[in-house]
Formats: sequence, C-alpha cells, structure tokens
Amino acid sequence: MCFFFIEVAEAASIQNLDNMEITMLDKIRETAAFIKKEISSTPEIAVILGTGLGELVNHIEIIRELEYKDIPNFPVSTVEGHSGKLIFGNLGGKYIMAMQGRFHFYEGYDMKQVTFPVRVMKELGVTTLFVSNAAGGMNKEFMVGDVMVITDHINLFPENPLRGKNFEELGPRFPAMTEAYSKGLIGMADDIAREEGIRLMHGVYVGTQGPTFETPAEYEYFRIIGGDAVGMSTVPEVIVANHAGMTVFGVSVITDLGGKDITEVPTHEEVQKAAIKAQPVMTLLIKRMLERLG
Ligand code: HPA
Repeated sequence: MCFFFIEVAEAASIQNLDNMEITMLDKIRETAAFIKKEISSTPEIAVILGTGLGELVNHIEIIRELEYKDIPNFPVSTVEGHSGKLIFGNLGGKYIMAMQGRFHFYEGYDMKQVTFPVRVMKELGVTTLFVSNAAGGMNKEFMVGDVMVITDHINLFPENPLRGKNFEELGPRFPAMTEAYSKGLIGMADDIAREEGIRLMHGVYVGTQGPTFETPAEYEYFRIIGGDAVGMSTVPEVIVANHAGMTVFGVSVITDLGGKDITEVPTHEEVQKAAIKAQPVMTLLIKRMLERLG
C-alpha cells in the first residue's frame, strides 16, 4: 500500500516535470514562430553581443529590430549598460541575427531563461554562434585590454542548463563538450590576427555565477585548475549551443587582472572602460571572420 502511494507520487512528479518541459518546448516554438513572422528570411549565424562587442551593432546594416519586451516568452534584460533587442541584418556580407543584451544568472534568471534565446536561435535555423564577454585574467602573460579566444571552458556555475528532462528534439541527453569551441573557427581567428597584427591570446574561460568579483585566492585557484580568464556568462549559452549541435566561437576581453600578487580592485566601471577600448579589435576580428565564413 505504502509502495503504491510512493509510486503514484513519483509518477505524478515526473508528470509535472514533463508538463513543465513541454511548456518550454512550446515556448521555444511559439517565440520562433513569432520572430519568423516579423522577418523575411532566417539567419544561420547569430552573435551574442556581450561586453566588448557592443560597437559591432554600428557596423550591421540593420533590416529589423525586435525589442525583447515585445517578443513573447523572452526575458527582459536588466543589467546596467545592456539594452535588450534582437537585431537582424547584414554584416561582413552575411545575414545575421545579433542579441544586444544577454541574460545573466546573477541577475536572478534561471538557467532555462538564460539559455532560452539560444534555443530560439536554433529553432530559427542558426548553426553558428559567436559569443563575447568581459573577463578577469589570471594568466600571467595577459594584459588589460587583451583579446582572448576561448579554446575551452570550465563550468563552475552551480547548475547546468541541461539539468532536467532531456528532449531528443533539442539534443542528446549526454552531449560531448570535447570541442565546445570550434577548432576551425579558432584557426580562422588566428589567421586573421596574424594578417591584421592583432595580439590574440588563447585561453580557458572559467564561468562563475558572480556577481562578486573573485578574491585573490579564488583567481589563484582558477589559474591552478587550468583557467586563463574568469567571467560571469557565456558557459550556459555555449553548453546549450553545443547541445543543439551548433558551431561556437567565443572571445573575451580581458578587463582586469587577478591573482595573489595583484592589488588593483576590479570595478564594473573599469571593466566597461577596458571593454570599450578593446571594441575596435573585437569588431574587426568578428567582421573579418564573418566575411571569411563559407
Ligand atoms: N571576474 C569575474 N567576471 C568578470 C571579471 C572578473 O575579474 N572581469 C570581468 N568580468
């Protein structure tokens, strides 16, 4: 009798989970259908304009803009210095969509909300994703203002965005993260950096929930475990993009340095300032890469 009740209760809670996830699938489809009605063709390339890539917008030949607040099911971005809209247009001879403003876990969004736009991108037909962010450097070779191609990441967020029931329509239950950042695109970035005389660093990005910057001991710890830079974004979106089978390119602007010998105190203002300074290089790199994509 007792077992019977436990089984019924378990079945009911799995049923609830199913309902919740089905709602998520429905939401993805509903949002993509809404967007499709607003645009005349769908892009295969998306760019998440994190800190350091804001200026890229000025280079896009804009065809259509959709504010997050007008898109059904889209969360609304709150953080200072980020406005929220989807931009559709041409850049580097390619038709792209760009996300101006992203959703951070530290703002209070859950992982499904943080990564919802990537799900919608996939539903629209996006196959290649470019992501940028600001990050604190632990690698002793790095300088403030450096641009770092992300070669790999370490996920230190307290939750994985794929936790919960898996939908085969969205991707496999246990996706590999062996080449989370495309080697082909990293090679392309290196070629462009050589041609353009850009000092382009390579490194492993450690993703943390924030919103605190790290203690000196934490920067040191992240360096010892194999990190070159640390930031509060990107990893959730990249996990979901890989789950969805997308090809990903990620790039960080090193906006501050951390470690046990470093006494400078990082601030949001310093991060913004350093990121703005690096914008021309970031913009040039991404534009050239888009031009070169097949
Ligand atoms: N730590 C975490 N996130 C960051 C940093 C940092 O030092 N700089 C920019 N984003």
